[in-house]
Amino acid sequence: FSQLLFQDANEPPLVFHWFPFVGSTITYGMDPPRFFKENKEKHGDCFTFILLGKKTTVYVGPKGNDFILNGKIRDVCAEDIYTVLTTPVFGKDVVYDCPNAKLMEQKKFMKVALTTEAFRSYVPIISDEVTSYFKRTADFKGKSGIVNICPKLAQITIFTASHALQGKEIRDKFDEKLADLYHDLDMGFSPINFMLHWAPLPWNNRRDHAQRTVAKIYMDTIKARRARGETGAQDIMYHLMNSTYKTGNPVPDHEIAHMMIALLMAGQHSSSSTSAWIMLRLASRPDIMEDLYQEQVKNLGADLPPLAYEDLAKLPLNQAIVKETLRLHAPIHSIMRAVKQPMPVPGTKFVIPTSHVLLAAPGVSASDEQYFPEPDLWEPHRWSKESPLAPSIVRNEPDEEEDEKVDYGYGLVSKGAGSPYLPFGAGRHRCIGEQFANVQLQTIVAMTVRLFRFRNVDGSDKVIGTDYASLFSRPLEPANIYWERRDQE
Ligand code: HEM
Repeated sequence: FSQLLFQDANEPPLVFHWFPFVGSTITYGMDPPRFFKENKEKHGDCFTFILLGKKTTVYVGPKGNDFILNGKIRDVCAEDIYTVLTTPVFGKDVVYDCPNAKLMEQKKFMKVALTTEAFRSYVPIISDEVTSYFKRTADFKGKSGIVNICPKLAQITIFTASHALQGKEIRDKFDEKLADLYHDLDMGFSPINFMLHWAPLPWNNRRDHAQRTVAKIYMDTIKARRARGETGAQDIMYHLMNSTYKTGNPVPDHEIAHMMIALLMAGQHSSSSTSAWIMLRLASRPDIMEDLYQEQVKNLGADLPPLAYEDLAKLPLNQAIVKETLRLHAPIHSIMRAVKQPMPVPGTKFVIPTSHVLLAAPGVSASDEQYFPEPDLWEPHRWSKESPLAPSIVRNEPDEEEDEKVDYGYGLVSKGAGSPYLPFGAGRHRCIGEQFANVQLQTIVAMTVRLFRFRNVDGSDKVIGTDYASLFSRPLEPANIYWERRDQE
């Protein structure tokens, strides 16, 4: 108990709090980025606060990101933190429910499947899903209307990701029962489950039933594919069916099924939150939505031909929209690690003891004016080198060409050390879905811009606040926007 109230001389400063167990849980939980910024001003880049009775040490800024995310496996551990939450949702033997070396192999299988050829096949799948969604959905019938954009983007994200990454059979099941089952799985991801994951509560019973049912749907689909002798598909499920661990053993069907759940869950919240933010930002800046349309007319042709993978590289503003939105609205605001042995913080007197949890928050440096002029301004044009708002350092994101690279077992990744912009993390646990997310988001934006003009309902340039109540941050709802079809003039 005294450990919670006092700090050892070598521990970072402790954020003041009134109540021992609660500590700063409430102020942190209400608005984590604000909490980090206020305490960075008071205490510097490295400080400790109490989160549900646990001493949690935050280390922000590029050095902090590097210290935590590129920490050695003997020093830091993700699975000790996350497995209570993820194993009941994903299932056994994958991700954090297995030794880290196995996760690295699993990430490699998934990363290797995402070839240029695969991406070429995904862009038409995603564009067709977007067009057909807007055509058949009642809320988008007519010339114009008002809609809460968040649930719409959640649906578009799941339809596009499941179709591209898991094949048409799985995608079609989302029109039937899979959507409800994933909804039940999702309830296992509420922050309260960090403490009550084991409890026989109604939502945990539904989570467990959903996990078993969804896993069976995948396993039945795998069996049916094998029976048909299917070859040549570009989805990840197919690739995993043909992958072999270093031991020489093929990936068992239940692990493929559990990885499919993990993949869709990992991508769903992050991508749907990002796409919703993009649409809300565009509604607050209709001029940029028009720039995006004109960029397509200029670079792809006035008749706007079907979008191809290669076209995405011809649309720099379309790419910058995703980058800039992730700078200000990275859906993962806190990345946690258990401390396995005392960790001295280079250049300071601090040593982080094993009783602490480490917390990285790359979003803090991504909105720091030291690196990004007018940091709170959403301005996608800043990513063009000529912009007066261009980031103040030359290398503002992990540079695949120049950076120091490491192989953690899932292919070479740039360490990202020293970068203030890491929405996809860094190191051993870095996102393998980054390229897919970019292709998916850029395609969704490009296709939406072809069909609509958006603006705020009151015509203002206001932007809605952020909901931090779940593990991934997202816009507060209802997030209503006014839409108007382009082709109705
Ligand atoms: C890991 C962000 C989309 C699959 C991560 C991490 C971040 C991140 C920050 C590191 C977590 C940590 O260090 O603990 C994002 C964002 C996305 C996105 C911002 C979209 C805008 C996706 C998609 C997929 C995916 C679409 C799947 C296709 C994964 C996986 C990991 C990961 C498998 C590895 C977890 C680990 O090694 O512990 N992501 N992600 N992500 N992401 Fe993503």
